[in-house]
Parts: sequence; structure tokens; C-alpha cells
Amino acid sequence: MEFITLNGILPSAVREKRAIPQFNINGVIWLQAVLEAAQEENYPIIIGATDRVVDKLGGFKFIVSMVKDVANQKKITIPIVLHLDHGQSFERCKEAIDAGFSSVMFDGSKLFIDENIAITKKVSEYARKKGVSVEGEIGTVGGNEDGIAGEIKYASKNECLRLVNEANIDALAAALGSVHGEYKGEPNLGFKEMKEISDVVKIPLVLHGASGLPDKQIRKAIELGHSKININTELNQVWAYTLKDIFQNNPTISLPQDVFDIVRSKIKLSAQEKIKLFKN
Ligand code: 13P
Repeated sequence: MEFITLNGILPSAVREKRAIPQFNINGVIWLQAVLEAAQEENYPIIIGATDRVVDKLGGFKFIVSMVKDVANQKKITIPIVLHLDHGQSFERCKEAIDAGFSSVMFDGSKLFIDENIAITKKVSEYARKKGVSVEGEIGTVGGNEDGIAGEIKYASKNECLRLVNEANIDALAAALGSVHGEYKGEPNLGFKEMKEISDVVKIPLVLHGASGLPDKQIRKAIELGHSKININTELNQVWAYTLKDIFQNNPTISLPQDVFDIVRSKIKLSAQEKIKLFKN
């Protein structure tokens, strides 16, 4: 099987006011669950591996073979993008590309804009030669992801335009009030700013920190040009709550495979609900 790039699925999704889910994987159970969910829904999927967990998952090459092998074993026929989430440097993005990822994000959002653009451009020049798509980021998604905490900083429209035009990216993550991890209080996306950016930026937008957002806000973000929506925390919460429930309430279950089967089916259900919302 061959992975496709973001360009194979996002532009049509924008036109049709749909979004493609990026589900981050934290182990093979997540991968099996989200592939099964997408196949049943007959809907494309983006498998995300965030840079900070890549080595814990076995490294870039291992992830590429794992995703291919599981997809082949499950006879998956829907389009799959394998995407590096929050790539930390040009070198890490290059490693992902060389290993066979079909898409990478360079996250230069905490750098000064000129440096963000320069490195994203370098990633994008390398990626283009290899037929790989690139996502860039402006502003800061708040909250805590993989142990790194950050404050919300809204993306500036001018910086978004500069990154898109100067670094030649395929998709833009413009931070507008979303949060990685759990929301404290009512989530509140900046729809006014979102519309302004969406009106001038002519490439697909990416919504990070979508776990915990009310369905209505997600649908509104899709209407305003978000065609890639990232989910990590909600699947991890399903994993954690299900494990706690099994061990507290089912003292007879102890075989790992029995536990994995239950957890996998719950993660699959949660992923399926998201796909139904995004494809609407
Ligand atoms: P959540 O933490 O809201 O699931 O966001 C995931 C994400 O944006 C990964 O890049």
C-alpha cells in the first residue's frame, strides 16, 4: 500500500465543507482502532505521530512499517496519509520524509516569524522533491501536549499570509483559541479572526486541539475552511477511562489481549463518532 499526501484529500474536503480527521497514535491499539473506524465509515484518514512520541513508538521507520503492515493485514482500502505532527526541526522532518512519511508538519510557532518561515521553507523545499506535503503553524495552541505547556497566542493574519506565500506550504494551522489536552472552562474559538484568515488564506486550514470542543464549534470551524482536524486527547481519555473501569469493575479480566480488545473497540467507537461529525 502507498500513503497519499494532504493534497490528495484536503482541497476537495474544503470545497465540500467536510474535514478529514488526524488521529494521533500512541500505540498499535490506537492504529488498529482508527483504521477500522475509517474503513467502516469509508472515509479517508490521517494517521498522526507526534514528534515527541515518535521514538517511544519505535522510531520513524518502525512507524512506517507498522502502519503499512496493519493496513495490509486489515485489508484497508481507504486513502491514508501518514503525517508527522509537530515536527521539532528540519532534521526531524527530513528523517520522517526519508523513512516514508507522506506528510510532515514543521512547528515553528514558538520561533520569531522570520525563523519560522525560513525553516518551514527549507522543510517544504525538501518535501516537494520527495512528493511529501507540509503543514506550518502560526500562533500558539494553548494547553499541554506531551508534557509541553503553552499559553494561547492568536495567529496574526499577516504572519499567516507570509508563511503561506513565502514557505509554500500545503496546509496552515492558525492558532485561534484552541487548546491541546483538556479545556479548562468553556472552549471559545475566535471565529471572527478565523473568518478573516480564512478569507485571505487560500489553502486548507488545520484545527489543532479539537478534543473537547463542542460539535457546533467544530462544524463552524469546518464551514470556515478547516479541513484537517486533529484529535489526540479524546482517544487517550477513552483508553484511560476504559482501563480504569476494567480493572476496578472486572476483577476476573487479566489477559492482556482481552483488555486490548475492549479498549480497542471503545477507541474505535470514539473515532467513528468524530468521523461522522466531520464528514457531515
Ligand atoms: P487534542 O489534544 O485536543 O486532541 O489535540 C490534538 C492535536 O492538536 C495534535 O496536534
